[in-house]
Order: sequence, then structure tokens, then C-alpha cells
Amino acid sequence: MTHEQIRKEFLKFFKSKKHTIVASDSLVPAGDPTVLFTSAGMNQFKEQFLGNIKEFSRAASCQKCLRTDDLVNVGITSYHHTFFEMLGNFSFGDYFKEEAIKWAWEFLSKNLKLKTQNLWVSVYEEDKQAYDIWKDKIKISKCRIVKLGDKENFWPSEAKKRGPNGPCGPCSEIFYDYGPDSGCGRPECAPGCDCGRFVEVWNLVFTQFNRKDGGVLEPLSNKNIDTGMGLERLCAVMQRVKNNFGTDLFKPVIEAIKREITNIINKPLEFDKHKKDIHAIADHVRAVSFAICDGIVPSNEERGYVIRNLIRKSALHGRNLGVEKPFLYKLVSSVANVMQGPYPELKKRREDISQVIKASEEKFISTLKEGTRILEDEIERLKEEKIFKIPGKFVFKLFDTHGFPFDLTKDLAKVCGFKIDEVGFKQLMAKQREQSRRKSIMASAIFKEPIAREKVKFLGYEKLKTKANVIKIFKDEDEVKQLERGETGDVILDKSPFYGESGGQLGDTGILSSKKLLAMVLDAKREADAILLKTKVEKGKLKQADLVVAQVDGERRSAIAKNHTATHLLQGALRKVLGEHVQQQGSLVAPDRLRFDFTHFKALSQYELDRVEQLVNEKIRQADSIHCNVMDFDNAKEKGALAFFGDKYDK
Ligand code: ALA
Repeated sequence: MTHEQIRKEFLKFFKSKKHTIVASDSLVPAGDPTVLFTSAGMNQFKEQFLGNIKEFSRAASCQKCLRTDDLVNVGITSYHHTFFEMLGNFSFGDYFKEEAIKWAWEFLSKNLKLKTQNLWVSVYEEDKQAYDIWKDKIKISKCRIVKLGDKENFWPSEAKKRGPNGPCGPCSEIFYDYGPDSGCGRPECAPGCDCGRFVEVWNLVFTQFNRKDGGVLEPLSNKNIDTGMGLERLCAVMQRVKNNFGTDLFKPVIEAIKREITNIINKPLEFDKHKKDIHAIADHVRAVSFAICDGIVPSNEERGYVIRNLIRKSALHGRNLGVEKPFLYKLVSSVANVMQGPYPELKKRREDISQVIKASEEKFISTLKEGTRILEDEIERLKEEKIFKIPGKFVFKLFDTHGFPFDLTKDLAKVCGFKIDEVGFKQLMAKQREQSRRKSIMASAIFKEPIAREKVKFLGYEKLKTKANVIKIFKDEDEVKQLERGETGDVILDKSPFYGESGGQLGDTGILSSKKLLAMVLDAKREADAILLKTKVEKGKLKQADLVVAQVDGERRSAIAKNHTATHLLQGALRKVLGEHVQQQGSLVAPDRLRFDFTHFKALSQYELDRVEQLVNEKIRQADSIHCNVMDFDNAKEKGALAFFGDKYDK
């Protein structure tokens, strides 16, 4: 079966079991700043798992995922990737263990016709229920059921001990046995051994607990199912190639690598000698192509950093093959061709993606040149002082400030007969890692529950002033009955003329007042459907259930509104001057300024800047009037509203 057939067959199967088929979410989780990338099929269903969205209770998807946990193994093993696709079926308080197990078995054995004697399963050591279902209902032989612990058979792994808080549960995994000849050969070899004989293809998670602080597992009232099956591994099994890189997902990409590299180095590429590098490049080009398609731009921060790093790693693998000029960008088309069925957007945007990668590759090459020069100067200097060890601090600076890879420093030093202070370097690296971990808001949390869930009616398009009731007050995230004079807290009104910041435009400020009360609204933020007003009481007390007059600072709002409109004009002008590939990445809309982040593969020329400025100013001078229309999503799109691939919009 081809990869396309497998995807289709999976979704068709679960559709027949009354699952809603949901499209893959973007690699950048919409509206979720707590995770770097979509790393599992369940990411996009957080709200359903928590019982907050009840549109459907069964879903299935084929989700593109990006994980960097296994980066060091990519290319070395046959089944580790950064980018991969996860087939998954989900139950939100609907069916549970028995159906999940039964259907997984039915799909593998009947639809895919895998021989059942090649399938093994693992269960969580304390999950007798799952064990009994496999043994008594599926009737799989006891010797092919293994019991494993917290690390292997609880999801998230070791969540009991280490967190994160939130929904979690025991899991049961299905393994494909490649047979005794393929692995370590030990008679006791079984799932859990990492010799390669047993490859985990499907993970069935029984999400039945809500983990709280201190590892307390509270049973969830709604029991959920979350499953994940790696498409690449399944293809390897179905196509009988053992190695994921031998499947039809990778073959054309690997052929393209061979072709391009051979062209550049002008001699045949020794494939077997360089297999690891080639496989790693094939993996990385998929990851960066999809990530850039979803709006990530290589940079030195957060998501952009990960992508830049993958491009750089590819360049280093390229050097091992004898290539010292940009080449990765030439491979995007091959990825786009393989993936055009389910992901046509990749094909549509391949030229832009290529340009972004090429620019990043070129930058890295100049980084390498510059770094080599600095390193050679240092070596000369040390030689004169008769020191033959390069200080850790220097190596770190070369890496941190100039982006020069540590391994290259080591190689170059060796060629010149120098040692390097690795211990010192590693200490500085550890210190920096700790600092950036603390700075980063991206925790590994799977779920971040908003503190408020109230539905607040936003009136701010029509009114800047209204009477409203105080429905909730929080102080430091704890609910309180009142705020005293001088205290600051978060207030929720039933109706809000205050716009709550939810992305670009800053929240409104203003006052809440009544006969005895005067409170300043210092900021407003949207959280789920609620608008949280950061409020400081100046006079009197602010209590739950109070009736207050809520008034927005109109002058400030009007200044913000102008800057907001200007961001749209700017976007329009950028698309005209630079091209339709320009996508908004983020923005800041304040009363006194605006910032607009967008994707483009190189810096703007002075001519382009002037042209954009001119177009925006022309529009401002036209002084067209602005109307507010509320319509549903499809209508808005039809009327030409820009909706971005990967963004989530309500109906
Ligand atoms: N969420 C589960 C996993 O990623 C299915 O393995």
C-alpha cells in the first residue's frame, strides 16, 4: 500500500466507526503559546478533552507533527524523525478501552491484513483491565503481551512522577515484530528492547486521570481515548522495507538528494558510506519545508531557532558529502511532490519555501567563513603565547555569538594541533540552557487551563460605556469575593466595552465606577471566551455582583484603532509590492505605534520600502470610511477577507 492509500484507509475506517474526520492542524498550534510545535494528534483537541467543546465526541485525523526530542537519533536509526505524521482516533467521553483496542486490532489485522502473530502488545503494569481485554476479548496469546512501567506505558511518559499536570493515563502499545533475525538475537528480546526487532506502531492512550500538583491522579469524569500511529513506521511495515527511509514517503526525496549532490560534487555519491547523512537530510528537509509553509521563519528565537538549527545541521551533513554551497533548498520540490495529495499548500508555496531556505543556507555559509577566520586568528594568538589549548570561553563565544558549530571548532583545532577546553565549554552551555529555559514561556505543558471560562459579551464595537455586573474577581489567579482600596486584581464583567488583547491589538483601559467606587482598568486580556480586566481600586470596594459603569478611554482606543487599520493597509501594500506570499506572523497595535511581522525571504530594498510607504499613505489620504460587518467565516472569505492557512477561526 502506498502512503496515500494508508492515510485514506485509516480515515475511512474510523469514519465507518462514526468518527468526525478532522484536518491536520498547523505545526504551530493555534492560540497555544505554551508549546513549540504540534507534537501529537491530540494537541488540537485539548478543549474537547477538557469537555469544553462538544461538537463531536469521536474524531480521527492524520496530523503532521514536529518533535526535536529524538534529533540525535535521526539518520542513525531507521525510525526516528523530527517531522512525522500521526494517524489517530480520539474519543471525548465516548467509547473507552474496549472499543479502542478492538478497532485498532481490527484495522491492523483485517484492513491492513497484517499477520496477527507478528503483532505484540504492551500494557501498563497496573492496568489489569487492558490486559484482560487483550487476553480475553482479542484472544492474543499471553506470551505476546508484556507489562511495562511508567516510562513506556504511561502517557505523557512518567507523567505521574514528573508531570505535566492535566489529562493523562496508562497506555497500551502495539508492536510489529520484524522477527528474531532482525534484532539483538537474545531469546528474551521483547517489546521494550530497543534493538530494532520490535517497532512500536500504535500507541493507545486511555486518558482517564487529571494529574494535579504532587502527582495526585484524579479520575476524570469523562474517560477519553487518544491514539497515535506513526505513518512512516506503518508504511515501512506495509511496504516491507524495515527502514522508514526506504518507504515511498522518502524514496523520491532521497533520489533528489543523490541527484543534486552528484551534480554539485561532480562525481558519484557513495550512498552506503554516507547513508546517515543522507537520511538526516531527507528528514530535515521535510521538517523545514512544512514548518516554513506553516509560517515559521528561521531565526535565533524559539520556533525559528529550531528550524534554523535543522537547516544548519543539514548544511553540516552536506559538508560530510563534500558540499559547501546551498543545496537543501533544491530539495523542497521533491518533498512537495510526495506530499501534494494531502498537503497541496506545500506544492503551491514551494518556490517561497525554497527561497527562505536558500537565504538561511547562504547566511550559514558566511557564518562559517567568518567563524573560521576568527578561530584562526585566535589560534595564531595562542601560538605566540605558547598555549595549545583553546579556552572554553572562546569556544562558547564562537558558538553563541557567531553561530559557529562546536564540532567544527574541534576539527579545526585538531588540524592545527590544538586541544580545546571542552569542560569549560560545556559548563557555559549548561548555564545558558538553564537561563533560556527559565526565560522561555514554552513549557512542556500539554494542557494550560485558562483561569476563567465565562462567556463575556463584547460590546466595544458599538459602545464605549455601559452598565455591567461584576461576575468574578481573581487575585493572583485565585478567585476572591472583593478587592479593597489599593488592591489590584482581574475582574470579569458580564458585558464588556473593553476590548481584550488576544494577539496584536492592545487591550483597552478605562474606569469602573459607581456611587461609592472608583477603579482604574489598567489592561484587558481575552482568555478563552472571557475578558479579564486588570483593575486597581482607587476608592471604595469592588465586590462580586456589583453593578458598575464601565467606561473605555475613548481617545486611546481611537488611536489604537487607527494603528490597527494601518496594519491592514500595510499588509495590503506589502502583498502588492512583494507578492502574495507575504503572511502576517504577528503584530503589535498600540496607541502610539504599530509593528507588523511578516514572512519574506530577504530584507526589503529601499525602493520596496518607499513603494510600500507610498501605497499606505495614499490609502490614508483617501480617508475611506470604515464599517463593521459581522458575518460567518465562509461569507467573509468569499468577500475576500484574508484567512491564513493554519489559523483557527470560529464559524
Ligand atoms: N498522544 C499519544 C502519543 O503521542 C498517542 O503517543
